[in-house]
Amino acid sequence: MKAAIVTGSGSGIGRAIAKSLAKNNYFVTVTDINLQNAKEVVQEIISEGGEAIAEYVDISNEETIKNMISSSISKNRNLVLLVNNAGVNFTTTVEDCTPEEFDNCIAINLKGHYLVTKHSIPLLKNNPGSNIINISSTHAFRTQPRYFPYSAAKAGILSMTRSMAIDLRNYLIRVNAICPGLIQTPIMNSSLFEETDPYYQKVIKYHPVGRLGKPEDIANAVLFLSSENASFINGETLVIDGGRSCITYELD
Ligand SMILES: NC(=O)c1ccc[n+]([C@@H]2O[C@H](COP(=O)([O-])OP(=O)(O)OC[C@H]3O[C@@H](n4cnc5c(N)ncnc54)[C@H](O)[C@@H]3O)[C@@H](O)[C@H]2O)c1
Repeated sequence: MKAAIVTGSGSGIGRAIAKSLAKNNYFVTVTDINLQNAKEVVQEIISEGGEAIAEYVDISNEETIKNMISSSISKNRNLVLLVNNAGVNFTTTVEDCTPEEFDNCIAINLKGHYLVTKHSIPLLKNNPGSNIINISSTHAFRTQPRYFPYSAAKAGILSMTRSMAIDLRNYLIRVNAICPGLIQTPIMNSSLFEETDPYYQKVIKYHPVGRLGKPEDIANAVLFLSSENASFINGETLVIDGGRSCITYELD
């Protein structure tokens, strides 16, 4: 059975990715800093007929990554997909951000993708045609007030994706990035979930598709990018934002 590791899959986008991969016959290692949530996702997968295990991983802590790889090694012997999804919002400005906050943000939102990749390569390289998918953000291109240094970390992921694609060419591992726009998950302000909320009404005017994103929109793209149908797509970035980034001013 082909295997996949998804970081930060106890919630939101990662949870949807893990569930969709399990439905598509992957054995999924559901990893998260919140082990309880990861275990709940595994239970959901098993109750739907899939196969998965939960592992504690803090992507900013290399030891926990090594432990996850060694404890799950027999299950992940046929690892063909790593999805670097875990991330956290940081809301501060260049003026207010402390050096410690800067380091912490980069450690989770950029360096974590590198660390999990590094320790997954020994497994992935046994399976030519394997895939790595890095979850970035549309903040990598244009951002908004108080998204420092999250936006820098997310931009770094795109550059790192291209380097990884080149460096891993001899193992025939493809590496691509996804930039989600506004996706309704717990990371987002809860008022964005209420269609009657004035802020929701304002934001929706910038979305040509007439809705915000769902975690499943990203999960569907992961399935495509890791499939044979995408075998000539490498080192690339897929923006999934319902057309939001095409617009400068609101539609009406
Ligand atoms: N929701 C959006 O609108 C949106 C937009 C663009 C990009 N993203 C990115 O998508 C990814 C998933 O976000 P989400 O919206 O599903 O958020 P979420 O908060 O629902 O899920 C993030 C998961 O990552 C886990 N996590 C946090 N820090 C971790 C760490 N150090 N190690 C391991 N796991 C950790 C959390 O426990 C949580 O389960 C993130 O990288 C985020 O930056 C989200």
